[in-house]
Amino acid sequence: MVTSPCIPIAPEAAADATTALQQSAQALPQYLRAGTLQLASLPPLSLYVHLPWCLKKCPYCDFNSHAWREDGALPEQAYLAALRADLDAALPLIWGRRVQSVFLGGGTPSLFSPDAIDQLLADIRARVPLGPDAEITLEANPGTFERDRFAAFAQAGVNRLSIGVQSFDDAKLQALGRVHDARQAHAAVDEAARHFASFNLDLMFALPQQDMMGCEADVRAALAHQPPHLSLYQLTLEPNTLFARQPPPLPDDDLGADMQQAVAEWAEAAGLQRYEVSAYAAPGHRCQHNLNYWQFGDYLGIGAGAHSKISFAHRIVRQTRWRHPQRYMEQADRGAAVETQTEVARRDLPFEFMLNALRLREGVPIGLYAQRTGMPESSIARAVQTAQAKGLLHPNPDHLQTTPLGFLMLNDVLKGFLP
Ligand SMILES: C[S@@+](CC[C@H](N)C(=O)[O-])C[C@H]1O[C@@H](n2cnc3c(N)ncnc32)[C@H](O)[C@@H]1O
Ligand code: SF4
Repeated sequence: MVTSPCIPIAPEAAADATTALQQSAQALPQYLRAGTLQLASLPPLSLYVHLPWCLKKCPYCDFNSHAWREDGALPEQAYLAALRADLDAALPLIWGRRVQSVFLGGGTPSLFSPDAIDQLLADIRARVPLGPDAEITLEANPGTFERDRFAAFAQAGVNRLSIGVQSFDDAKLQALGRVHDARQAHAAVDEAARHFASFNLDLMFALPQQDMMGCEADVRAALAHQPPHLSLYQLTLEPNTLFARQPPPLPDDDLGADMQQAVAEWAEAAGLQRYEVSAYAAPGHRCQHNLNYWQFGDYLGIGAGAHSKISFAHRIVRQTRWRHPQRYMEQADRGAAVETQTEVARRDLPFEFMLNALRLREGVPIGLYAQRTGMPESSIARAVQTAQAKGLLHPNPDHLQTTPLGFLMLNDVLKGFLP
């Protein structure tokens, strides 16, 4: 319990004042105690909400997503109640802070009814200050069932849709175990363009048995829709997935690298700027939510398995929520949705900051490092100089930015910032 400064210390207790102060300091929540970081101001704050169900689990997917037909009806109301309890319990950590963006991710959030999304956004607005122009993204799959709801999601207050197209080729969609086909994908993108001024398409490349021509056809099909934002991911074999256990025939590393270079060229030629390793945007359409991650901003993540990063004056804390939806709901209802909470160690901050910031093509002003980590610039000076000497970082003293070579060899650049 925090001792009120209004309570006078009785004379007989004065001798124990030091001990009492120490005890009350220990009783303070961890995040309010003195620490070694010195953050002059707190970063922008985003809110991530995880909705963990999908129609079916895709064989390449390592996200915390669960096939909902196994469990019967989607427990929308119970999950919304858990999210409310989760957010209520988290409020003391973000007291008074404005939320600048909301991302409803999954899983497949578009399986939730528009009424449920409307209720969720109302619950959020009732608890945290959300600006009228805050970016509110919802991840959607392109099935017919979801597409019919796009207009209603916009009505509910979602102002950006992110559609998981993955490919416009029926054979590739089948190989990926997707439940939609190419026709549905095109129809979903057209419907999104009707209702959302800003939307994103997720596309993957280096798919099973894909050649360069197939890759080009896919990217060009996406670009023909003139999406304001495109995310282009190279398919990776994630541990604990069906594809990791039974790998499909994927393009080799050289072809994968050639595809990466080619997809970037096609997207840029179509007027989408590559502003991050996998993200391309038309002017004015960069994803504000993801930019905040990459600029080492704060995020509160609620929902099953969600991650949070929250800064305080003297420390940065990471949290994870219980991963399994059922367990999460039970725990959240008890006010205990958080499974783990750890403080980011000083020695890990240089790497963690760079891991995010150097994904941005334009990099970040060097002053952002001290602002966001609460550490002095001197703590990265030597690693920066080494990377500059190798031609991996630009020699600009005011800015942290990879050179074209450094952008290609990002993992090597980052190694220099490991503890
Ligand atoms: C949160 S996921 C899923 C969103 C949505 N449920 C979907 O599948 O369309 C976001 C994106 O990550 C990408 N992704 C998922 N697994 C991947 C993998 N193993 N390799 C590369 N990209 C992957 C996909 O493009 C996917 O759309
Ligand atoms: S629909 Fe998306 S989140 Fe769900 S299993 Fe497939 S890739 Fe993963």
